[in-house]
Order: sequence, then structure tokens, then C-alpha cells
Amino acid sequence: MAREVTHEERGPTILDDDDKGDDGLIYVCRCGLSDSQPLCDGSHRATADEEDGVVYKYEDDDADGERREVDGIAFEDA
Ligand code: FES
Repeated sequence: MAREVTHEERGPTILDDDDKGDDGLIYVCRCGLSDSQPLCDGSHRATADEEDGVVYKYEDDDADGERREVDGIAFEDA
């Protein structure tokens, strides 16, 4: 499984102690669906039933948005 997400940022962000969870750890989103990028907000749960070998796109990159299968990563003209 994989998913297509759109990122608009052009540079890094700095994480600090305020980004730590109650357990003192920082959880960085790797699924691309968090509304709190770059931090995990639990949105990855929506990917639990994604099938191997399928590429998905979530409407508006929102874990609650409609999910559809896509042929691959699409590139749009700017
Ligand atoms: S890994 Fe992306 S929301 Fe948790």
C-alpha cells in the first residue's frame, strides 16, 4: 500500500519540547494524513485496511475524506 498526498511546505520545521506527547516522545507523521504535520495526530488509523500493491488518494488528504484507488502518483501542472 501507498498513498498520494500533497505537501506545500518548502522547508523544514523545528521541533521542541512542546511537541512531546505525554510520554515524553515526539511522534512524527509518516502516513502524510495528519492535520498537525509534521506530528502524528492518529489519522494513520484510516490506513489500517489499505491493501498491499494499491495506491490510494484521500480527498483533500484528509483521513476522513473519501478514499479512492489511483493508478499511481499523479503530477499536476502548476
Ligand atoms: S503517522 Fe500520520 S497521523 Fe500518525
